[in-house]
Amino acid sequence: SKLSEMENLISLVNKIQRACTALGDHGENSALPTLWDSLPAIAVVGGQSSGKSSVLESIVGKDFLPRGSGIVTRRPLVLQLHKSDEGSREYAEFLHLPRKRFTDFAAVRKEIQDETDRETGRSKQISSVPIHLSIYSPNVVNLTLIDLPGLTKVAVEGQPDSIVQDIENMVRSYIEKPNSIILAISPANQDLATSDAIKISREVDPTGDRTIGVLTKIDLMDKGTDAVDILEGKSYRLKFPWVGVVNRSQADINKNVDMIAARRRERDYFNSSPDYKHLAHRMGSEHLAKMLSKHLETVIKSRIPGIQSLINKTIAELESELSRLGKPIATDAGGKLYMIMEICRLFDQIYKEHLDGVRPGGDKI
Ligand code: GDP
Ligand code: NA
Ligand code: MG
Repeated sequence: SKLSEMENLISLVNKIQRACTALGDHGENSALPTLWDSLPAIAVVGGQSSGKSSVLESIVGKDFLPRGSGIVTRRPLVLQLHKSDEGSREYAEFLHLPRKRFTDFAAVRKEIQDETDRETGRSKQISSVPIHLSIYSPNVVNLTLIDLPGLTKVAVEGQPDSIVQDIENMVRSYIEKPNSIILAISPANQDLATSDAIKISREVDPTGDRTIGVLTKIDLMDKGTDAVDILEGKSYRLKFPWVGVVNRSQADINKNVDMIAARRRERDYFNSSPDYKHLAHRMGSEHLAKMLSKHLETVIKSRIPGIQSLINKTIAELESELSRLGKPIATDAGGKLYMIMEICRLFDQIYKEHLDGVRPGGDKI
């Protein structure tokens, strides 16, 4: 079906992104960095403790991120979700630990912490070197999400004063690319006018065309106040409707409330609330995940011609680079280049099939 073709396309874009990264500095002289920049990804931005990591975990439906108060996320985490066949086992894999499959997601969290410390020392420093993590599961939608350090207003003990600006610059470098989709996280228990997420996304996307507003902590609002005006788009207008979520509280996390129970509770919260009942169908993490995947599809579709010509350029460059390296391809770099080329070819093929499908009469190209 067309839908599964689109799923294939997203997963191919995922593979190209991963392959581009795996190649690292080898891609410097080729079209690869441009190719990487042209592929859409969703960047999660917001103030510290606004609920970014919690939203990501809800989208994945798994506990695997370091979470809590203070600066926890200190390196970008590029998270690729791959939908696998029904009934297959869920696992995670890090780019820096190839061929090691994690089935225990508590171990994934520990590895993110350890790998963060490896790069930054056990300090509260940050690093712009991303960690790449892939999750394979029948319960996810195909998506690439980037968790970023939280925006902050003051440096804490042990951090250089420049950290406030450093984090802002790092976040901006991800979201200023026109291909990036901004998931802007604002907590409902703070005035929207002070939201770091809104402030920075407005700067790079003034028309709100590629910003998706997410309102967290709706359960923590003061009694007598509600978020209806925001969720109905009356307070701050974006092209996409706002999505409200209720993540687990710190107490829930301490009590090990699992994700399934949390999702059910979130659904009940919106369905049974007199304030939000009329919006319940477009609230919550599950809705957010589906909406994001659908949107990513649309963006990829609209970018196909551009991606396509870049891919052709990349294939041509890789071919000449490969012939320079000589055959048979013995080197690691050669193997990776070859892999990227194969993926690009697949993309090319699926793209053409897709065109056949959408052309009236379906005549062949
Ligand atoms: P980040 O720093 O933006 O990644 O924020 P986290 O996801 O780590 O969340 C910070 C804290 O807020 C954690 O203790 C979460 O449990 C809590 N939290 C996040 N979202 C919600 C929410 O919707 N409701 C409640 N009650 N607590 C939340
Ligand atoms: Na945090
Ligand atoms: Mg975080």
